[in-house]
Amino acid sequence: MKLIFSPASPFVRKVHVVLHEAGLTDRVSLVPVATTALNTADEARAANPLGKIPALIRDNGDALFDSRVICRYLDVLGESHLYPQDRVWDVLTLEALADGIMESAVSMVYEVRLRPETDQSPAWIEAQWSKVVHALDALEHGKLFAFSGEINMGQLAVACALGYLDFRHGNRDWRKNFPLLAKWYKDIAERPSLRATEPQG
Ligand code: BEZ
Repeated sequence: MKLIFSPASPFVRKVHVVLHEAGLTDRVSLVPVATTALNTADEARAANPLGKIPALIRDNGDALFDSRVICRYLDVLGESHLYPQDRVWDVLTLEALADGIMESAVSMVYEVRLRPETDQSPAWIEAQWSKVVHALDALEHGKLFAFSGEINMGQLAVACALGYLDFRHGNRDWRKNFPLLAKWYKDIAERPSLRATEPQG
């Protein structure tokens, strides 16, 4: 299999985490690409008409995207049971929440990085951050999330989302208002699959 990826993407990190959890790292060759919303890499476009990463080319040549589909596929392939059948809707909903945090957090980065300063919208950036805060609040107050129990893909995705907040939005200090989540994250961040995939740069 081939993974079309960009190292800093939190969506890509989810896939790397599952590869570690499932013991499949040796089965995948890595194809790094430099791709943005404004400048799509050819390899990304060839694998996904939307031009988004990550995309996984299976051994039969078929491409899979997006990260939720890829993670589910790798979980089945590696029998890592990260989507337990008795909680599958909760786990998928939690993963969707984590992906939403990532989408808002990445779009804040893109706004600053890809648009000229005079075109940037501080109000839009704050609206994205507000989505992040609402999601963290739901997690902190246990509306969507069990801190305990067997590890699952929803929890791993939340850990990747929080790792990305530290990586790109450390100045926002998300821990200040979410102490339970911060404590949970401190422990789960020690998991080998998360240690091995920490964002660099
Ligand atoms: C980043 O540099 O933060 C980034 C790069 C690619 C995809 C998403 C985020």
